[in-house]
Amino acid sequence: MKKTIVTLLIALVGALAVSCAVDPPSEQNPEDKRIVFGFSQIGAESAWRVGNTRDIKRAAQDADVQLMYYEAEQKQENQIKDIRSLIAYQVDVIAFSPIVLTGWDNVLDEARLAGIPVLVVDRKIKSDPSLYAGFIGTDSYSEGVKAAEFLLEATRYRVDDIRIMELQGTVGSSVAVERSRGFYETLEPHANYEIFYSKSGDFLRSKGREIMENALKSNIKPDVLYSHNDAMTLGAIDAMNESGVRPGKDITIISIDGEQAAIDKLKQGEINCVIECNPYQGDMIMELVKKLYDGEEIPEQTYVDERVFTRDTDFEALGERGY
Ligand code: AHR
Repeated sequence: MKKTIVTLLIALVGALAVSCAVDPPSEQNPEDKRIVFGFSQIGAESAWRVGNTRDIKRAAQDADVQLMYYEAEQKQENQIKDIRSLIAYQVDVIAFSPIVLTGWDNVLDEARLAGIPVLVVDRKIKSDPSLYAGFIGTDSYSEGVKAAEFLLEATRYRVDDIRIMELQGTVGSSVAVERSRGFYETLEPHANYEIFYSKSGDFLRSKGREIMENALKSNIKPDVLYSHNDAMTLGAIDAMNESGVRPGKDITIISIDGEQAAIDKLKQGEINCVIECNPYQGDMIMELVKKLYDGEEIPEQTYVDERVFTRDTDFEALGERGY
């Protein structure tokens, strides 16, 4: 009997100790609470994407935000699952880089019902705007416009037909749609520019190489290559070099992203123009996350700054790209 009472006392003291160790949420000092931020990234398809992920992780650490990070291996169904897990974890704010434009309404509605604000990062979506708080990322339409403007300027004295090959990014992604639209619309009034060949290389180096290799083997040789990202461009350049076509000379090359390897090719004369797609979005994301956590409104759209690099760029001042 004596032994039973002692055991009960020990259990009671233990239970009290545990319940005192963690304050229930209502008694927590709000000052002490770290924001829990869930992020679903597309994958690691390019150096750009890897740099973007690194920057978001760094910014979360600097901002003392607790990050729950998921990577979807280029699959929308994985991203939807990831967002559902973040809802189940009841994180404070969710962000995701949507691989494609459509198909998000149901999961966004689930987040809304759970009272968790959602921030769309890097790529846009086609959804009811009431289902998410806002967008932060790059302006893909303007990247396409800048690419076409460079081409018009570089070929301003030519009156013959200029035949363009386009390597598109992932089919159905806002980035691919808008980079094409900006480019096509800017060239439209100029009758001698023809986009005669357009294929999706899914933002992958291997596919950029394969498409260019097949084209050259079939005697399809464009005057210009307009490529939606550096990874595909670098693959296409490998294929050109192997078939004796001089990149940047026999074929004018315009690429998007601005990764170090592409900037090096620009310096060497194998690329003619690189339109920057800025992956350094982490600090701005954290600012928006904090606002959403505090219940503040955020702008519908926030864009990061982007530049155009040509052979006239001051590369010394530009420094290392970091991705
Ligand atoms: O969404 C941004 C694009 O996705 C970048 O241009 C590309 O490199 C990445 O994979």
